[in-house]
Amino acid sequence: MLDGLPPSQAAGAVERLIAAYRGDTPTHAPILRDRADVAAYAAYRMPATFEAVRSALAAFADAVPGWVPGSHVDIGGGTGAATWAVTDTWGGTRPVTVLDWAEPALALGRELAAANPALADARWQRARIGSALALEPADLLTVSYVLNELEESDRTALVDTAAATARAVVIVEAGTPAGYARVIEARDRLIRAGFEVAAPCPHSAACPIVPGTDWCHFSARVPRSSLHRRVKGGTLAYEDEKFSYVAATRLPAEPAPARVVRRPQIRKGQVLLDLCGPDEELCRTTITKRHGDLYKAARDTDWGSAWPPEPTV
Ligand SMILES: C[S@@+](CC[C@H](N)C(=O)[O-])C[C@H]1O[C@@H](n2cnc3c(N)ncnc32)[C@H](O)[C@@H]1O
Repeated sequence: MLDGLPPSQAAGAVERLIAAYRGDTPTHAPILRDRADVAAYAAYRMPATFEAVRSALAAFADAVPGWVPGSHVDIGGGTGAATWAVTDTWGGTRPVTVLDWAEPALALGRELAAANPALADARWQRARIGSALALEPADLLTVSYVLNELEESDRTALVDTAAATARAVVIVEAGTPAGYARVIEARDRLIRAGFEVAAPCPHSAACPIVPGTDWCHFSARVPRSSLHRRVKGGTLAYEDEKFSYVAATRLPAEPAPARVVRRPQIRKGQVLLDLCGPDEELCRTTITKRHGDLYKAARDTDWGSAWPPEPTV
């Protein structure tokens, strides 16, 4: 699709989008204005938003074993990154609806989805997020990298509408202090609406992070294709996308006993793990060789994983 554009137009669109996302959002008109914008977005951002949503959904799926969503609505879905992440997480097909106010994004999303049989019947619909947004009931609702673009009143209206219509809501934002703050705001609203947090938190009590001192976020590795490197001008073969998320549900959920909330530090004969635990506290634990199999597991675990890992037998 990028090949249909003059190279300078795609690179120019990437630069403009990077500046727009750094600048003042919310905006009162779509940032994704035309074909060059959305092709650029799909090439330089969509791989990263896809990997972030996929990581969040994997943690959520672990907490609701055996559950498969019967329908999916993606709000502010843009070019459809979350729809690809959902079809990657759960096999089979289901009714899928993507809502966005940027028609060029929906059009390109629809074209890309032609390559994914599980999205063959997806509906790509123009809709403006706000108090007038009406949603049909859905099993799973995703809101990926969207809250950042909304006024506070639209953010709260969206989360309340989501809570009233879906059985599971997965919200992903940039892994920044501001992104984390928006996730926590949404998490609190979902809990007040009767939802239970399934991931990343081991509980639905208050987040133990003292506001302003730290922020809960994770990292997803994004392989960079040559196309991605071309539009973004980078040379590394990968990038690490930092994201914050919450997955909450009305379904019976089994949250992780604890979650690794920083990159594990591997020292000689020991691994230091920073954990968010069930007792509503953050703690550091040291696993040494003396712990045997647990030490092996600690060496293999990663930032964002559940701890301890599920026994494999
Ligand atoms: C950063 S993009 C994220 C796209 C996609 N969810 C992803 O993860 O790649 C934000 C999306 O939210 C949409 N959006 C922002 N404000 C909106 C509004 N008020 N109503 C509908 N869509 C909106 C934008 O058009 C854009 O597609």
